[in-house]
Amino acid sequence: MISTRHLTRDFVVSRTETVHAVRGISLDVEPGELVAVLGPNGAGKTTTLRMLTTLITPTSGTATVAGYDVTADPSHVRRRIGYVGQGNGAGHNQRAGDELVGQGVIYGLDRRAAKRRTGELLDALELTELAGRKVSELSGGQRRRLDVAMGLVHAPKLLFLDEPSTGLDPQNRANLWDHILRMREQYSMTIVLTTHYLDEADSMAERVVVVDHGEVIADDTANALKAKLAGDRLAIAVAPSNLPKLAELAEKLPGAREVVAVGDELSVRVADGPAALPELITAAQQYGLPVAAAQVHRPTLDDVFLNLTGRSLREADTNGKAA
Ligand SMILES: Nc1ncnc2c1ncn2[C@@H]1O[C@H](COP(=O)(O)OP(=O)(O)O)[C@@H](O)[C@H]1O
Ligand SMILES: [Mg+2]
Repeated sequence: MISTRHLTRDFVVSRTETVHAVRGISLDVEPGELVAVLGPNGAGKTTTLRMLTTLITPTSGTATVAGYDVTADPSHVRRRIGYVGQGNGAGHNQRAGDELVGQGVIYGLDRRAAKRRTGELLDALELTELAGRKVSELSGGQRRRLDVAMGLVHAPKLLFLDEPSTGLDPQNRANLWDHILRMREQYSMTIVLTTHYLDEADSMAERVVVVDHGEVIADDTANALKAKLAGDRLAIAVAPSNLPKLAELAEKLPGAREVVAVGDELSVRVADGPAALPELITAAQQYGLPVAAAQVHRPTLDDVFLNLTGRSLREADTNGKAA
């Protein structure tokens, strides 16, 4: 469905400054996949999506989308894909239903077909009751669902969603996801979306492509990334005066790294948490260090990102440029 090789995009900002927004992305997406592109603000997610949707041209490299080259055949690509951009496309004063019919007509449907398709989408996205409302009167979550509908009027087999859930509260995010997953089933679509929500990429996508500074730094299932790149973390609480000795013992655990004291807790990364924890507790008891509490933390995608880049995705995000 998608195949890119060494795709890059520079923005010449001034005579002396060029931003290398995308530095060489090679990516293959099979039909039916749901892929989350995860990365901090400024990583190049939007720029990549805009190249794949033919809104901007690559500086170098190649990309085939839905069977057509984005540079040589942009109109063929466009006809076969849906794109829901960051922010949103729908106008404010139009009624939601009219907006969708209009979009259908733009995509070449006759009015009757556009109305039929609109009815179907409004139904699928639970917007039927709101068809007569002005777009400006919809809530954030309803508006985002309308945006998704706008991207689907021409029944594309491939849908791009740029940060679909950003700005929504958790309940609306979950609701939007329900709808996206349902649409995917119903229309057997391939979906590529971007997000900077770790939990979302973790739980929703079968495949996570991590980008940073315009490059793919990891590409696998969330579970495989976590197993390969993070490992479990033990947290053990002891009296502060016992922390140095406990740290010494922790260093000896198989695969031990990142041994740090946080408050009255010692944190250590190990290969196999459930096996290492009793070993450490036993060792602590042998040295007369009473353990007050102990936990195994399974890794998150943030741990994966931290291991890959040395930065936490959360921090990278707040320090990054605005999207
Ligand atoms: N039109 C543009 N002109 C100049 N710089 C841009 C433009 N669009 C994006 N950039 C820069 O390219 C980098 C990647 O941006 P973007 O693709 O929007 O990242 P993301 O979507 O991952 O937050 C950022 O440094 C951003 O400031
Ligand atoms: Mg973006």
